[in-house]
Amino acid sequence: MLKSLQGKTIILGITGGIAAYKGAALTSKLTQKGAEVHVIMTASAKQFITELTLQSLSKQRVYSDTFQERDPSSISHIDLADAADLVLIAPATANIIAKMAHGLADDMLSTTLLAATAPVMVAPAMNVHMYQHPAVLANINTLHSRGVQFIEPGEGLLACGYVGKGRLEEPETIVSVVENYFAAQANAAAGALAGKKVIITAGGTIERIDPVRYISNDSSGKMGFALSRAARAMGAEVTLIAARTDEAPPQDPGIRVVRVESAQDMYEAVMSRWKDCDILVKAAAVADYRPRESAESKIKKSGDTLTLELVKTTDILESLGKIKDKQFLIGFAAETGNAEFYAKDKLVRKNLDLIVANDVSTEGAGFGTDTNIVSIYDAGGLVLDLPLVSKDEVARKLLLLASERIAGAAL
Ligand code: CTP
Repeated sequence: MLKSLQGKTIILGITGGIAAYKGAALTSKLTQKGAEVHVIMTASAKQFITELTLQSLSKQRVYSDTFQERDPSSISHIDLADAADLVLIAPATANIIAKMAHGLADDMLSTTLLAATAPVMVAPAMNVHMYQHPAVLANINTLHSRGVQFIEPGEGLLACGYVGKGRLEEPETIVSVVENYFAAQANAAAGALAGKKVIITAGGTIERIDPVRYISNDSSGKMGFALSRAARAMGAEVTLIAARTDEAPPQDPGIRVVRVESAQDMYEAVMSRWKDCDILVKAAAVADYRPRESAESKIKKSGDTLTLELVKTTDILESLGKIKDKQFLIGFAAETGNAEFYAKDKLVRKNLDLIVANDVSTEGAGFGTDTNIVSIYDAGGLVLDLPLVSKDEVARKLLLLASERIAGAAL
């Protein structure tokens, strides 16, 4: 059974109050529900609970120092911020609330918070008088007006001896707020492509040399399958045009599967369905060249060398880019270096609305894996950077972006 927070990346910010110890239960519960939890602790939180506890419970590295960069190829607070589906601060002290309200960035957590574009939830915990202080209330109001969601503290006996409001909400309750948030988000996304016709191409084309031999590529079809499932989950009418793939396509009555072999077959399959399509995503790896001749019977071994003459295939995406009117066109650029440069060039050359670039030579990205690392560009430049996330998540984010853009264009 799918866990309620499966596939979700949550940054859990733990700040320095006595309730920091509850961060352990929170980390454990969120992780058990399937979330990938990246804990960031403030220096004062470390006075109350150890990094090791949270690392053991989350099975992830715990962050606290902005300058402790272990991987020279990335900047942690930016990567973490980009990967997050949600930032949760629990417990949140008066200090972090003030820093957030005023945009201070003097440690790992506050810096990540400024870089994050994901929704933010804050569960305060402090002394009742601190919680009622006009400065704190003003900061909370400021954050409210920016869309930060507060998980109100409970009333009861506080660690300082007072009875009143200020006790961190119980971890179970905080986890249900988080679950409800993602459930509501999924419901909203469920209708995002309702009534839209979406064509997805997947897999690698096969260019025949003879009846038993062919030229193909490493594409597994996984990204295209993930896109088909995501489009379906958002209510679209999906046609999946699949060339050679490693696995069978998704079995879903709402996904019409058309199997093709060559680039030419794919061209014809796409063209005949293109007219009334709303979104087309070309995740397939299409051969750029095919043998000029495809022998009718198996080629027998003869001389020491054999020369195959290859001729260019039709560029399907470029052809569509030339004739598109209402259709929203998304291409992929699988590169082995200079991904940004090539992707932007393809976006312009093929007249695309969005292009998804990935460097397939990076571990965790590209062919055959269940994860990907992509950057999405439009004509204006970078739109979304997705560090290592599942292909399902890339698919969901890409299609949500497309649905927002289509809705925006229709206004
Ligand atoms: N594409 C296509 N038809 C082709 C070749 C590519 O529709 N004959 C599409 C792919 O499905 C992908 C995008 O174009 O969405 C980019 O594919 P890619 O092979 O990276 O681009 P090319 O233009 O072929 O450039 P190159 O191979 O030189 O990198």
